[in-house]
Amino acid sequence: MLNNIFVIRFLGFLGLIGISLLFYSILMEVPHSMQEVQLPEAETQVYSVWALPSEEVTGRVKKLMGGLRSEFGGPQFEPHVTVVGAIRLNEVEARDKFQKGCRDVKKYSATVKKVDTGTFFYQCVYLLLDPTTEVVEASARCCSTFGFNSSSPYMPHLSLLYADLTDEEKKKAQEKAYTLDESIGSLSFQITRLALYKTDTEDKSLKSWEKIEEYNLSTN
Ligand SMILES: *[C@@H]1O[C@H](CO)[C@@H](O)[C@H](O)[C@H]1NC(C)=O
Ligand SMILES: *[C@@H]1O[C@H](CO)[C@@H](O)[C@H](O)[C@H]1NC(C)=O
Repeated sequence: MLNNIFVIRFLGFLGLIGISLLFYSILMEVPHSMQEVQLPEAETQVYSVWALPSEEVTGRVKKLMGGLRSEFGGPQFEPHVTVVGAIRLNEVEARDKFQKGCRDVKKYSATVKKVDTGTFFYQCVYLLLDPTTEVVEASARCCSTFGFNSSSPYMPHLSLLYADLTDEEKKKAQEKAYTLDESIGSLSFQITRLALYKTDTEDKSLKSWEKIEEYNLSTN
């Protein structure tokens, strides 16, 4: 009988220690989960720097893009000229490099050479731009700030359609572009803004693509 009481007390004692250890371990977890709250800063995403045309040109190009999409499909996106291609960074780094890169770039002009077609989804039908010194340097400066070296030379362009089309369909799309906007092949426009975009190239719906920041370029 006395023995039993001892055993019960002993078990109760063990239970108390167990509960204490449980609370202790929960308390020790707190700093750990606070670290996790800060983790998004270290989380990397794919970013790109885009040159944005004026509102007026954007409107004109969007109309053309819509016309092509209605026949050939593909996702919707903002008219842009990629300045720095997809690069993986955390958001703090991306914003910082974007600001620094933009300071080195002045407003510049771009001229369309022709409507051209490429060989993959993200270079299906586009406006090929004249690779003038201004255009090439804007990209080179930003790429250098981002520590980005492209494996291929910079081919400045403004995409009209992202899609996987056959060569024949691409040819049709190219012709349709000239039908929809007769003088598109000789368009000239000013680049006055750069924008930092989140551009996960794996997401071909482009639903995750979003503008993070915009920068008004200085005149000189
Ligand atoms: C990037 O460019 C630097 C110098 O221009 C070169 O040394 C390096 O090998 C390049 N890296 C890649 C991945 O091409
Ligand atoms: C850029 O300039 C426009 C006016 O031209 C202004 O509305 C906008 O807020 C500016 N953006 C930034 C990021 O300074």
